[in-house]
Amino acid sequence: MSEAIEVRKGLVGVYADESSVSKVMPETNSLTYRGYAVQDLCEEASFDEVAYLLWNGELPTAAQLRDFQAAEKAERALSPALLRVLRDFPRDAHPMDAIRTAVSFMGMEDPECADISDAAQRRKAVRLLARIPTAVAATNRLSKGLEPIAPDASLPFCENFFHMVFGRVPAKEVIKAFDVSMILYAEHTFNASTFAARVVTSTMADMHGAITAGIAALKGPLHGGANEAVMHMLKEIPSPEAAEAWLRERFDHKALVMGFGHRVYKNGDSRVPTMKKYAEIMAEVVGDKRWMNTSAVLAKVMLEEKRIHPNLDFPAGPAYYLMGFDIPMFTPIFVCSRITGWAAHVLEQAADNRLIRPLSLYNGLEQRPVTPIAQRG
Ligand code: COA
Repeated sequence: MSEAIEVRKGLVGVYADESSVSKVMPETNSLTYRGYAVQDLCEEASFDEVAYLLWNGELPTAAQLRDFQAAEKAERALSPALLRVLRDFPRDAHPMDAIRTAVSFMGMEDPECADISDAAQRRKAVRLLARIPTAVAATNRLSKGLEPIAPDASLPFCENFFHMVFGRVPAKEVIKAFDVSMILYAEHTFNASTFAARVVTSTMADMHGAITAGIAALKGPLHGGANEAVMHMLKEIPSPEAAEAWLRERFDHKALVMGFGHRVYKNGDSRVPTMKKYAEIMAEVVGDKRWMNTSAVLAKVMLEEKRIHPNLDFPAGPAYYLMGFDIPMFTPIFVCSRITGWAAHVLEQAADNRLIRPLSLYNGLEQRPVTPIAQRG
């Protein structure tokens, strides 16, 4: 009987549910959020407009955007209790562990934590969107022995993040490149972390639990952690001229090359050309082309030899490095963005819920009697 059962390891090719949040079209290397091409959103909209779009299905009017931004700005501050907890985290804790724990704590503090009505879940999503960047910036500064910088409600979302990390707001080209990365990272159908968030939601658990699960899944190097791994890899390569030999050595060891390959896109990741364009702008702004030149060699040789294309993490890693962020912050920045996609999926899952509970095909021992301990020798 078991021959008739097909196990799809990694759920490859399995449609787990319907969704109207975003659509990946691997045949044309394209991605839409609520029907809009992601590269058009990058050029015509801001990250907070995209957050509104993902949660509401439509881009905001000017008045709706003003209200949404005001609600986000009002929720940025961390509680004194959470700040105390952040100060007690081990100095060398990975920032993804720190933000996962901080979000869990935010849930315990949230007066509406257990209220899973749509209205309450939306209010909690705004609070998470507003506070996660504050917690990411604070843990980064504390890990370096620096005092956290309080959010500034007079600054827009991206400007405020730079202010909280560095104590200053950079040139508008840098803000634009960061905003674009946030839009590109916001949503990507049923990826592992989004699916984890939907599984948690399907049990009727709350928003903070779902987002905590999403963060845990995103940390892995096969998922969000790849943007950090890409930058470590680029730093290992002594120069663009040495990149090809370095890569061929990796081929000899059959090692993974971080920032390449994708479960869904096999002919190129729709988000890469836009992110690459803005990473190159960052290289111009900073006056350091080394990382992009090294990247170009790796991409060319990977394509020629393996027919494998880069994914979004490949240009995002050097872009964040050129913006001045510490490498362990790259995946937490991804969290600051993906909270929008996760929350959109939590709302969608809850609106038409069925417990997610697949089957497993047992391949262990046949049933057998329990031998009492005295007889086990
Ligand atoms: N470096 C080297 N080889 C790679 C590769 C990479 N980054 N990505 C895929 N391949 C190879 C695999 O080894 C496999 O070769 P094989 O058929 O000889 O065994 C083949 O390409 C197919 O890959 P597969 O592992 O089946 O793809 P997948 O859909 O299961 O995995 C990823 C997708 C993303 C997990 C995988 O490409 C990967 O590990 N990439 C590096 C991590 C990364 O950048 N993650 C971010 C994703 S957005």
